[in-house]
Amino acid sequence: MPSILIIYNTKTGNTELMAKAVEEGARSVQDVDVILKYHANPKELQHVDAIIIGVPTYNHRMTIDIQNLLEKTAKSNIILKDKTVAVFGSYGWSGEAPKQVLEILTNKFQMKSIASPILANYKPDEKILAECRRLGRIVAEHIR
Ligand SMILES: Cc1cc2nc3c(=O)[nH]c(=O)nc-3n(C[C@H](O)[C@H](O)[C@H](O)COP(=O)(O)O)c2cc1C
Repeated sequence: MPSILIIYNTKTGNTELMAKAVEEGARSVQDVDVILKYHANPKELQHVDAIIIGVPTYNHRMTIDIQNLLEKTAKSNIILKDKTVAVFGSYGWSGEAPKQVLEILTNKFQMKSIASPILANYKPDEKILAECRRLGRIVAEHIR
C-alpha cells in the first residue's frame, strides 16, 4: 500500500494542530497508509512514498530536530529521489523554516514538491486547517 509519513515538530502546539489536520485529510483517502510522528529516523524516510514535514520557525530557522534528521539522512546516503514532499508550519513574523526544509528536500534530495508550503500565523484558524486537510488529501491522492 502507498504510504505517507507526516513528521512534525512543535513547541507550543500550533504546528501540531496543523499536523493533525494534514493527517485527517490524508486518512480521508482510502488505501493509503498514513503515519504521523514527532521523531523520525532516516531509515523511516526510505520506506514511504511521500513525506510531509511540519516545522515551526524559531530564530529564523527550522528546529534542531528536523535539521538533525536532514543531516543524518544526508550522511546515511538514503535515497529520497522522486518521492513526493510537502511542508507546512506555524510562524510569528518571518516564517522561513518550511521553505528552508522544502528547499533542501527538493535540491539536495531531489524530492518532488506538489504543493506550496502552508503557513499559519501563530495558531491556525479554520481556513488554514482546511488547507492542511486539503494538503493531506492531495498528497495521498497523488501517491495512490
Ligand atoms: C524564542 C522564539 C523565537 C522565535 N523566532 C521566530 C522567528 O525567527 N520567525 C518567526 O516567524 N517566528 C518566530 N517565533 C514565533 C513562532 O514561530 C510561533 O510562536 C509559532 O506559532 C510556534 O509554533 P509551534 O507552536 O508549533 O511551536 C519565535 C518564537 C519564540 C518563542
